[in-house]
Amino acid sequence: MPQNPKRYTITSALPYTNGPIHIGHLAGVYVPADIYARYLRLRGKDVAFICGSDEHGVAISMRARKEGVTPGEIIDRYHAMIKKSFADFGISFDNYSRTSAAIHHKTASEFFRKLYDDGKFIEEVTEQLYDEEAGQFLADRFVIGTCPKCGHEEAYGDQCENCGSSLNATDLINPKSTITGTKPVMKQTRHWFLPLDQYDTFLREWILEGHKNDWKPNVYGQVKSWLDEGLKPRAVTRDLDWGIPVPVEGAEGKVLYVWFDAPIGYISSTKEWAEREGIDWEPYWKDKDTKLVHFIGKDNIVFHCVIFPAMLEAEGSYILPDNVPANEFLNLEGNKLSTSKNWAVWLHEYLEDFPGKQDVLRYTLTANAPETKDNDFTWKDFQARNNNELVAIFGNFVNRVIVLTNKYYDGIVPQPGTFTEKDRATLAGLKKYPDIIASAIERYRFREALGQLLNVARLGNKYLAEEEPWKIVKEDAERVQTIMYVALQVAGVLSVLSEPFLPFTAKKLQQMLGRSGSGENAPWDAVTDGDDLLPEGHRVNKAELLFTKIEDQEIKKQLERLEQTRQENKENNKELPARKETISYEDFAKLDMRVGTIIEAEKMKKADKLLVLKVDTGLDVRTIVSGIAQSFKPEEIVGKKVTVLVNLAPRKLRGVESEGMILMTQDSGGKLVFLNPDDAVENGETVS
Ligand code: MF3
Ligand code: ZN
Repeated sequence: MPQNPKRYTITSALPYTNGPIHIGHLAGVYVPADIYARYLRLRGKDVAFICGSDEHGVAISMRARKEGVTPGEIIDRYHAMIKKSFADFGISFDNYSRTSAAIHHKTASEFFRKLYDDGKFIEEVTEQLYDEEAGQFLADRFVIGTCPKCGHEEAYGDQCENCGSSLNATDLINPKSTITGTKPVMKQTRHWFLPLDQYDTFLREWILEGHKNDWKPNVYGQVKSWLDEGLKPRAVTRDLDWGIPVPVEGAEGKVLYVWFDAPIGYISSTKEWAEREGIDWEPYWKDKDTKLVHFIGKDNIVFHCVIFPAMLEAEGSYILPDNVPANEFLNLEGNKLSTSKNWAVWLHEYLEDFPGKQDVLRYTLTANAPETKDNDFTWKDFQARNNNELVAIFGNFVNRVIVLTNKYYDGIVPQPGTFTEKDRATLAGLKKYPDIIASAIERYRFREALGQLLNVARLGNKYLAEEEPWKIVKEDAERVQTIMYVALQVAGVLSVLSEPFLPFTAKKLQQMLGRSGSGENAPWDAVTDGDDLLPEGHRVNKAELLFTKIEDQEIKKQLERLEQTRQENKENNKELPARKETISYEDFAKLDMRVGTIIEAEKMKKADKLLVLKVDTGLDVRTIVSGIAQSFKPEEIVGKKVTVLVNLAPRKLRGVESEGMILMTQDSGGKLVFLNPDDAVENGETVS
């Protein structure tokens, strides 16, 4: 790890262009990455902050199918929209590219070809899932089924979004095509596999030994558990028609797996940027004095900590990430954000509804960032943070200082007299903040850093409230000069240190303080090192409000919109599942269903949906793993009579063998309900 890096390559996950950006993306990835990049630039560092649209993969094809348009139309629409909303929101990418760009196709193809030529892939014909009705192989999001690791019923063919595991489509239990809803058959096809198992030692040494102390525990822990489970070869090609063609003879109709090409998009985007700037891209990816950091959400951990590093290692000439500070998820008003359920605050809509208030959202998302656990965004909290923190503390302090400076001194910074003990302590305290905040940012603790920034404003507010210049200005004009001088320095420091978090506010504040274009090449360090930022005789401009109150009415409008979405979703869910095909009596008679009693229940470790039950079926006492943990607490179901399908073939869930199934239905709110017979019925009675 470079101690004092020469340059920084900062990437943030390439968003899929299958929908707009929402607050979950912002809080998890783009806002923290932007804070980090802006902070480093303020310290005069050489930074490449890289992103772009992820335009391949099944997510795009599915959206196109659903809307009856071509994938090309989908990516053009959302690429333009996403790019604009990021820019309007002040995300300061040095380059925002797209994976449909020619430079990316070339870079990704060459990367694949190098690994191919160096013999890094296994080429193999295997049986894969195939949808006979659609005439298509099923991979990734074209197939869903039960996750073999956690029991989540809607795991994708390449990944379970519930437990984060990376999967092969053939691992899924009860796979189902998302194109036709049919059950796939197995069919042979040829593919190229990256033998991840061969990278086990490399990954263990690099991450488990090398990054035990500096990577976040959630990231480190996930990687460790995958390595401990054992890695398997992973197909990096697909039988699909949307993607980058596999650059090998005899691979017609095959494309690169989206998670093979997308991370290479970071490299292509860096190349595109360097070309435009007339500089060399290679040091940003190949010089060991470069610090590479990937900002991602937790569902991307396996790809950035296992698969992409194995690819880079296989290629041989690249550096590896120094850190992957993945965040957990943000919820909205208590529910999981969902593009398909329209449960989100969309960035482009926010920008329309709250013009000029980018920083309020940046502030709320950072103050509430899901850094160590999932967190909730609520509109009430958004309003409270704006009104009670940004307006009442930050804005109020700045406004008082500038208004008074204009009133007393026509906007000229006064000459201070002798400093009191408190003045000196305030000025000295102030100069400590750059280091305090820097240390938090460098440890990727952006919430903590923001909290400290607000403490700068609190310091100023407290100072003014205690010194009360407005009360003594008549009798002790000289003392007031000193007080205002000190308060102005606090405002000056705020205008620098707030820039990474609140760039629009910082700019406005610098203009107000007449500090724009002050020309330091490392303004952050100027706060600690040099003289006071606003010297005696410097002129400030007129006061303008930095923040304005958000009224109940505006919040109510947002909450009503969400309530409407909730209603619409409810209506849509009222549709009952389609009738199944007719079966014979013989088919029915095959089911051996019995009355039983749950005699023990406990939570399955690391699986939020599963309970491990011991059930007395009258025939025996057996273990059944049941996906009911979100509807019941273990202690409330012990002793319950239930109906059990006892002759279902046993299967392993998270390593525990489940011998049978408890029959369930659900109430109108989606809570699971047992089919429970009367207590008078004895265990072992059959159901027919
Ligand atoms: N598009 C992916 C997602 O939204 C992220 C891709 S990140 C990259 O989950 F590394 F592949 F670029
Ligand atoms: Zn899972």
